[in-house]
Amino acid sequence: MNAKASMRIGDRQIELDIVESSEGDNGVDISNLRKELGVVTLDSGFANTAANTSSVSFIDGEAGILRYRGYPIEQLAEQSTFLEVAFLLNYGELPTKAELDAFEESITMHSLLREDMKQLFEAFPHEAHPMQILASATSALASYYPEDLDPTDREAVDLSARRLIAKMPTMISWAYKYRVHQPYVYPRNDLPYVARFLHTMFSLPTSEYVVDPVIAQALDVLLILHADHGQNCSSTAVRLVGSGRADVFASVAAGICALSGPLHGGANQEVIEMLERIVADGGDVSKWVAKAKDKNDPFRLMGFGHRVYKNFDPRARIIKQTAQDVLAKLGRDDPLLDVAMQLEEVALSDDYFIERKLYPNVDFYSGIIYRAMGFPTDMFPVLFALGRLPGWLAQWRELTSDPDLRIYRPRQVYVGPTERDYVPIDQR
Ligand code: ACO
Repeated sequence: MNAKASMRIGDRQIELDIVESSEGDNGVDISNLRKELGVVTLDSGFANTAANTSSVSFIDGEAGILRYRGYPIEQLAEQSTFLEVAFLLNYGELPTKAELDAFEESITMHSLLREDMKQLFEAFPHEAHPMQILASATSALASYYPEDLDPTDREAVDLSARRLIAKMPTMISWAYKYRVHQPYVYPRNDLPYVARFLHTMFSLPTSEYVVDPVIAQALDVLLILHADHGQNCSSTAVRLVGSGRADVFASVAAGICALSGPLHGGANQEVIEMLERIVADGGDVSKWVAKAKDKNDPFRLMGFGHRVYKNFDPRARIIKQTAQDVLAKLGRDDPLLDVAMQLEEVALSDDYFIERKLYPNVDFYSGIIYRAMGFPTDMFPVLFALGRLPGWLAQWRELTSDPDLRIYRPRQVYVGPTERDYVPIDQR
């Protein structure tokens, strides 16, 4: 099928190619619009704009579907592991046993940070947010590997990607250790990836931390659920920076900065802070739902709503169940879970939320699990970053291996002053 779209402005009309998707929305190719009709498209927040084609993940927001490279998120969460998913996203196919073993081995080999990187952590005030430290440390990693930064050298890119996956848990735990004035813990390469991370986070020289398999398994699932999500804000930042041929470390650092915002990866921290406020205020969820609906009140129900999902976020469904399982297995109660469930119930039966199709998103329940695992609230966004890393890398590789790659450079519709003469300061 060679379907075409047409656009008419005044008496000029052109035909536009339609790029067919394998599933989901087709794209109208408007790249010649300006040349042919002298106009650009305007689309606030890129809500209706595809910046590129991609085969990394598929989302159907109306049906609540998420798949990585074709595999449903529910199957991956139940049967796969985070490193296997990282392989899948980066290389396009599930690994054989030998491929997965080799991949895990190479990640393990690179878990250590250069010793002089400690100085970087120590240059920060102790109260620095871990996302600030992680973004800087990720960007700084490039300076340790100057020979491997060429984006066109696929072997070097592969090595850098593995280094990033290997070192990010160590950077995160060192950011934490520095913050809480505890000695850094070196990664133990005899432990698997997630257990190794938990050990560097929570172990002390004075008391060995024994990794609880319930916690390790739940964290593995959470990382899988965050691993990719199409052209979201941070992945777009990674691509944008990469499109200027910046190295992969700089591009991923940009993704971390983009993720830090409260409307994106910072939302999981905001959810817990909101739930704590509600509990401290007496736990009347209807009052807070009313606040969220009030247009004169800036308060929004954090963890609700999504640009793409107009149905239950499939990740939220899995996370809700995981939160209940983890708390039950650890034998812990959390009043925040009760409030979260009440809030969900009230909001989902309220016309305001129904009409706007606002459902719980991935962040709504994840924080409750992180809390049960012992992570402080401001570590939640860095855990999101760790999960999203394989996706950023996959998106960056897809971008940089495109032979037709052009630098990302949007147009604008200028609405400022037209030409006027400079007025000397004494005459203004
Ligand atoms: N609470 C109350 N009202 C909301 C909420 C909310 N959480 N989210 C959206 N709305 C309302 C808006 O006020 C707007 O109402 P209106 O049509 O009467 O003006 C309508 O729903 C549409 O909202 P937009 O802001 O236009 O939707 P957009 O797609 O731009 O934003 C976003 C999506 C940022 C996720 C938004 O829903 C939000 O701010 N949610 C809370 C923050 C959050 O949980 N972020 C995490 C997102 S998931 C992620 O990054 C992993």
